[in-house]
Amino acid sequence: MGIYLDSANPDDARRAQELGFIAGVTTNPKLIAQTGRPGLEVLSELAEIVDGHVFYQLTADTVEARTDEAWAAYKIRPDKVLLKVPSTTENLAMVSRLIPAGIECAMTAIYSPAQAFLAAQVRASFAIPYYSRLKRDVPDAPLVLKRIVDAVRDTQTLILAASFKSVDDVIEALAVGIQHITLPLDLILALGEHDLTRRDIADFGQHLPG
Ligand code: G3P
Repeated sequence: MGIYLDSANPDDARRAQELGFIAGVTTNPKLIAQTGRPGLEVLSELAEIVDGHVFYQLTADTVEARTDEAWAAYKIRPDKVLLKVPSTTENLAMVSRLIPAGIECAMTAIYSPAQAFLAAQVRASFAIPYYSRLKRDVPDAPLVLKRIVDAVRDTQTLILAASFKSVDDVIEALAVGIQHITLPLDLILALGEHDLTRRDIADFGQHLPG
């Protein structure tokens, strides 16, 4: 089980890295755009900050251009860069060539067990379902997420669940067996807290001598 930071902000990455239990950082085009900087420059900085993988999503218009983009991103830090590629048939075909060439890839924007199954067929490292978007757009999101988890069971492809808006969302996703999760910094910081824990700490404090 790994917990990743979902952010392209270097300050968030430094704070998350300081926590000591972060497996890496995931970005997406929206998060990169919020930095106001070129994507590959941000990728390079994030790779200096965090110990684990840095996920970078391909955005170019054509398969040929996305393949070039993949190599450009990979060459920034071959040991750390993991490419995110939205799940479409042409992208699955592209990834089926990139992975044997040595570039780690994840299939992202996964909404169905069939997409997760194909992510495993191309030997993607991760299939990335978007949980809060599933809840917004698809009936019975927990069941769909469970079927996505089941679709890659006993394959080399791991589920990295993304797009979380609340601790309750995280608890729902954990209940169906997700293996890895990526969260914005505020949710990572909220996850280990509970009002009742704070109450108990205060209660124990009252019994300390002197
Ligand atoms: O990084 C991709 C995923 O986290 C999307 O999240 O919050 O834009 O639905 P969100």
